[in-house]
Amino acid sequence: MLKKNILITGGAGFIGSHVVRLFVNKYPDYHIFNIDKLTYAGNLKNITDIENATNYTFIKADIVDANQINELFAKHQFTDVIHLAAESHVDRSITNPIDFVMTNVVGTVNLLNAAKSLSPTLSKGEGVFYHVSTDEVYGSLNDGGFFLETTPYDPQSPYSASKASSDHFVRAYHNTYKLRVVLSNCSNNYGPNQFPEKLVPLFINNIGNNKPLPVYGKGENVRDWLYVVDHARAIDDVFHKGKIGETYNIGGFNEWTNIDLIKVICKAMDKKLGRTEGESERLITYVTDRAGHDLRYAIDANKIMKELGWQPSLQFEEGIEKTIDWYLANQEWMNEITSGNYQNYYEAMYANR
Ligand code: NAD
Ligand code: TYD
Repeated sequence: MLKKNILITGGAGFIGSHVVRLFVNKYPDYHIFNIDKLTYAGNLKNITDIENATNYTFIKADIVDANQINELFAKHQFTDVIHLAAESHVDRSITNPIDFVMTNVVGTVNLLNAAKSLSPTLSKGEGVFYHVSTDEVYGSLNDGGFFLETTPYDPQSPYSASKASSDHFVRAYHNTYKLRVVLSNCSNNYGPNQFPEKLVPLFINNIGNNKPLPVYGKGENVRDWLYVVDHARAIDDVFHKGKIGETYNIGGFNEWTNIDLIKVICKAMDKKLGRTEGESERLITYVTDRAGHDLRYAIDANKIMKELGWQPSLQFEEGIEKTIDWYLANQEWMNEITSGNYQNYYEAMYANR
């Protein structure tokens, strides 16, 4: 059997960095290639701890550029793909949908084509092409219930429409070309290294700086939250044990209305910062709702739990505490993002390698 040369895309982003770290450390016999364009959301400082590992290679590349991707497949002989690279923020998809079509749809099809014809394994009915996706493809649960793997797709935002499209292409390549694919659709992640445009890190940072906390609409929308390291563990399980052609929903049965979640963060921050109770909550500011704001997401994760034996390792209270502690201990990481300095790290570390 060929040694595994695993291509992980988007490994400088939030979830991708946790997946790259897990695979580099847990599987010394695999070689992990991290391909990332380093958009505003890509930050090599997320993975400085593994950047010199002998089983790890970082390559700055754009999955939208088919020639570049084909050359990299030919050169490095990727045996498997774990595809996370994406434009990932719903608000940005509302102002600039075309970037989402390019990276999430065209980029995914470029990877599928390269895998189908240039991978030494995937071209021969071996290996795994794993697409990491979101529960947002199922739409909004307005009348109760949970998302199952069989729930019909009903994406509502440009972001979820682009992810639904890429999921469909991945399944179409399995059906048409017998490419060995597997997919997972996960609920909202939180944890260390998340870009501070998303709710949890944005609010932690704003509370620390005494800035307003912009709550969209009435704050009644419901999200189902999972600690990012538990998502990375689930990805490990799906990659190694998932049935080819199948989809696994990932979530921790952990629903919160936005306003309740925000109050939990405010209370915890009051304690950590030695403020009087209620001080951070006073920063809450209700603002105009997001256009087409999905009311509720909730994952039924029974399939992955029963079939692959995956379970979340952290209770929410513990996860949110760990997350707040991480942001408070890593203010330099946050300052580099707000100043834009993190984007120079590639030149300093990699450009001449
Ligand atoms: P992120 O925005 O933090 O990171 C995305 C990464 O992809 C960045 O490093 C970026 O530089 C890279 N990238 C973007 N465009 C690229 C391109 N054209 N070529 C190469 N690299 C490119 O995103 P995230 O939150 O870590 O999400 C990762 C994946 O997981 C996405 O596919 C997303 O849809 C999915 N997902 C996210 C969540 C969540 O809560 N964040 C939940 C479920 C699924
Ligand atoms: P977000 O972190 O952007 O994730 P997603 O849109 O993929 O669920 O938002 C989580 C929830 O928080 C969502 O219902 C929108 C809401 N939200 C706010 O109320 N204010 C904010 O500033 C942001 C970024 C999000």
